[in-house]
Amino acid sequence: MNKKVSELLNAQVNKEFYSAYLYLGISKFFTQQDLPVFAAWYKVQAEEEQEHAMKIYAYLLDQDEDVSLDAIAEVKAEFKTILDAVQEADKHEHYITDEIVKIMDAAVADKDYRTQLMLNWFISEQQEEETNSKEMVAKVKMLGNDAKNLYLLDKELAERK
Ligand SMILES: [Fe+2]
Ligand SMILES: [Fe+2]
Repeated sequence: MNKKVSELLNAQVNKEFYSAYLYLGISKFFTQQDLPVFAAWYKVQAEEEQEHAMKIYAYLLDQDEDVSLDAIAEVKAEFKTILDAVQEADKHEHYITDEIVKIMDAAVADKDYRTQLMLNWFISEQQEEETNSKEMVAKVKMLGNDAKNLYLLDKELAERK
């Protein structure tokens, strides 16, 4: 595998674990706000991010590439408002999309079709992630900080499978 592609994929393993950590921080915030279903939603997100990391991890090992298990950066997760928390997640998903595109660009430049095939999954996953996080921001904006509305939204989120 091309050195740059390998380095970017290794960095992405770390970024996906960081994403899991960030979502855990957001989940913690919602638990502390007494919104358990919001908390559960972001905890599921955190689990999904670990799966993303493991997908790339497994791919690298399949290709006989090493995986560097670098330190995962600290997450502060101190949000002023509920809107702040959901906006942080939305901003982060856009950042991750940009990072995936950068790896894809490197794989295309190197004519690395296998990596492109693997990354295709991430390209469509990021579309889904952005749609979800955008909807969450829109809902929280509509409902504001009204306790009753947030309670109802919390119940609606409980229907997530
Ligand atoms: Fe991810
Ligand atoms: Fe994500």
